[in-house]
Amino acid sequence: MLTAEENEVLCRVGPGTPMGTVLRRYWTPAFQLGDLPTPDCPPVRVTILGENFVAFRDTAGRLGFLDELCSHRGASLALGRVEDCGIRCLYHGWKYAVDGTIMETPNLAAPTFRERVKHGAYPVREAGGLAWVYLGPPGTEPPFPAFAWSTADPDELLVTEMIMDCNWMQVLEGSIDSSHVGVLHLDTLATMGAGPRSVGSFDFAGEPWDLDMPVPGRGGQGGQGQGAPARRPGVWPSDDNAPRIEVENTPFGFHYAAIRDVTGEPDRKFVRVTAFVMPYTAFIGGAPGAVIVVPRDDYTCSSIGVFPVPKGSGAARRAGAGTDPAVWGPEPDNRRIRLPRQDREAMAAGQSFAGFRGGNRIQDAAVQLSSGPMYDRAKEHLVPADLAIIRLRRLLADSVRLLEAGRDPVGRGEGCDFARITAASQIIDASQAWQDLVPAHQGSAS
Ligand code: FES
Ligand SMILES: [Fe+2]
Repeated sequence: MLTAEENEVLCRVGPGTPMGTVLRRYWTPAFQLGDLPTPDCPPVRVTILGENFVAFRDTAGRLGFLDELCSHRGASLALGRVEDCGIRCLYHGWKYAVDGTIMETPNLAAPTFRERVKHGAYPVREAGGLAWVYLGPPGTEPPFPAFAWSTADPDELLVTEMIMDCNWMQVLEGSIDSSHVGVLHLDTLATMGAGPRSVGSFDFAGEPWDLDMPVPGRGGQGGQGQGAPARRPGVWPSDDNAPRIEVENTPFGFHYAAIRDVTGEPDRKFVRVTAFVMPYTAFIGGAPGAVIVVPRDDYTCSSIGVFPVPKGSGAARRAGAGTDPAVWGPEPDNRRIRLPRQDREAMAAGQSFAGFRGGNRIQDAAVQLSSGPMYDRAKEHLVPADLAIIRLRRLLADSVRLLEAGRDPVGRGEGCDFARITAASQIIDASQAWQDLVPAHQGSAS
């Protein structure tokens, strides 16, 4: 549990806030590259960390990420014209290059003025289907998190995005939370085949009712979100809903193992290793990609999934995503999540535990949103299964203290090979160390 003041520090991300200042010291995914597909295409307005920006792709294909409001008298550049290697404000025609240089001021002939004014512009990198920006002071950029999928072709990646109307920490904590998987996602596990079929007094009466849900490894994709179960059908070999959590810090943040008993095999253990890369990204055991949670403002965040897929299927899936209730992403208007009705009849009839059609990400979103716009953690009661959540909050709080003391926040990845960060989901001998499954992580007890 946190005090109400600690909770405020954790949750608020605007300019000048303690956490907002910390987050600006990491590369932040800002928008999907598919939103700016071609040179001189229409610009997009982007809100991240409580600030508004305009992003555009100039005639030469370079990305610009600028403060949204024009330096002249504040019209939104998101209304502007993208042309001839810059973006032009509609109001009086001031024109900006991708680096914030003011190229033209039609209502002022003298060039000396525009040479003195520099519009806010930020470094942008393209990787893994996303544009990443750095909003911290110039010259303080950490190493770029070049994950293994960063260089994949667009048609080898599936990028999904759900915009959720709640504080980012509710969604981020959900992304690294292990002990909900065998409960909230019971429908998913049961649909996969050999998974558990009961929680407490609930038992499936015959088949689960949501047999069309996207399930990892069964041709679907939406189920590979937060807390997604293992990829192969039937590989959830445990009825143990109180996993032991072991956590270690790493150069990129931390990793942890959720260790469960294996039903009928006392000499073995079921281990799911999750890697958390400060401050947004989780590699989840059993899911092949990553889940990235980015605050848009204090009460809105994006939950982004990046998943490697067989060559050729990424773009195809994106194109058809609008018809799949569990996938968001192709059109910005479609990204705000709308929950389906909770099916109380199916729950009462023993056909569904949670009552939400659509797979893990819908089930996750339902509980995360249910805590309200910004949950007050002074009211919670943590248990040992929440150890990874506690570590996440501690690293963020440590980062606030370090930055205020003039030092770098933790987990900026100096000396770290981001391409070798992985997760794992495996049955191993009870005597084997789970760290063997993720040898590149350089974990250290703390
Ligand atoms: S407000 Fe943009 S040019 Fe005047
Ligand atoms: Fe989940």
